[in-house]
Amino acid sequence: MIDSWNEKAVRVHRRLLVTGGAGFIGSNFVLYWCDTYPDDRVVVLDALTYAGNRRNLADVEGRENFRFVEGDICDRTLLDKLLQEENIDTVAHFAAESHVDRSILGPGAFVQTNVVGTFTLLEAFRQHWKTPLSKQEGIFLHVSTDEVYGSLGPNDPAFTETTPYAPNSPYSASKAGSDHLVRAYYHTYGLPTIITNCSNNYGPYQFPEKLIPLMCINALIGKNLPVYGDGQNVRDWLYVIDHCRALDVVIHRGKPGETYNVGGNNEVKNIDLVQTLCELMDKLATDLPVRPCSNLITFVKDRQGHDRRYAINSNKLKTKLDWSPSVTVEEGLRLTVEWYLNNRDWWEPLLSEEYQTYYRQVYVS
Ligand code: NAD
Ligand code: TYD
Repeated sequence: MIDSWNEKAVRVHRRLLVTGGAGFIGSNFVLYWCDTYPDDRVVVLDALTYAGNRRNLADVEGRENFRFVEGDICDRTLLDKLLQEENIDTVAHFAAESHVDRSILGPGAFVQTNVVGTFTLLEAFRQHWKTPLSKQEGIFLHVSTDEVYGSLGPNDPAFTETTPYAPNSPYSASKAGSDHLVRAYYHTYGLPTIITNCSNNYGPYQFPEKLIPLMCINALIGKNLPVYGDGQNVRDWLYVIDHCRALDVVIHRGKPGETYNVGGNNEVKNIDLVQTLCELMDKLATDLPVRPCSNLITFVKDRQGHDRRYAINSNKLKTKLDWSPSVTVEEGLRLTVEWYLNNRDWWEPLLSEEYQTYYRQVYVS
């Protein structure tokens, strides 16, 4: 049966605070939301760390219903001010330190933003929630990851919403901590929170250091394609717009206090994914320094504590909220490769000195 909690015959205009809205998924979500619900108010709060990029939001900057605020989710004074002056009823919380490899190099920032930042945001929303205007329709949507469930063996069933948490990296541990806080604020204070745990996303605007953009960009500049360990680790891949569509149905029809798993049902071994990307590059790119691209594939030292397999069961979201992915992995990868081919001016400036330093730390040491 499809749940219809919070659904209204006439849609009420929402006033959203989108944290981390200049990052990869957050910016895709903002562009999606502004196009789909142009009468809603969308306020982005983003600290513009290395992963945040205001250019991602160029298509909506200047719209009357859109506002960008540079700031930190750990800044309680700023949060109180924004929630109140914008009369926010819906928080879509994406802001996080999100890269496992960076969490291995420096876990402190992950605890600060993911745990302390989420706590600060929850506290601010709890305070704000007492004001009568925002009491009707509110939702605190916490965007989380399947990595909190840990690593699967080859024949284990996919993660469900009741799989016990077993995070293995500082990143997933900090996300697990934030999930627990969000859950506790529902149970203790009745705050209308919802958690989504999603598999690996891919698509436009993903920062160059994540697997798929890294492979596309390295192929375009003739650099090695570094595959960790034996390349047999498995991830489930979801096109980012399908994640945004899932968050849309969760905001509109999800039930407070619930968790929803989101996944693409596309389990792929890393080495197979990289091979597919190489084939797409060979086909779609005209000026490759090395062809075929697969000649650039290099097996490198494995990531410490590298989770072997993730797989996610999204049946709850499918049956309760009638969501399913709309983009096949073949189509999504082609769209993504084309996007990186056509948007060199987006990614070239991101290969900065800071990026090169990070790159040397992960791949050369
Ligand atoms: P991202 O790293 O691309 O973007 C994170 C954004 O948060 C950036 O714009 C950054 O500037 C901002 N930010 C970081 N610290 C902040 C702070 N203290 N205050 C305000 N803003 C801050 O991440 P992403 O890949 O877009 O992931 C977004 C969310 O989705 C994260 O919570 C992540 O855990 C979750 N998630 C990601 C994936 C994935 O495959 N990328 C999958 C499942 C869940
Ligand atoms: P990543 O995009 O970092 O996502 P996550 O680790 O959060 O799933 O990496 C996806 C997979 O690709 C993961 O198994 C690690 C692997 N990987 C490589 O083999 N080489 C690389 O250079 C990177 C960045 C990732």
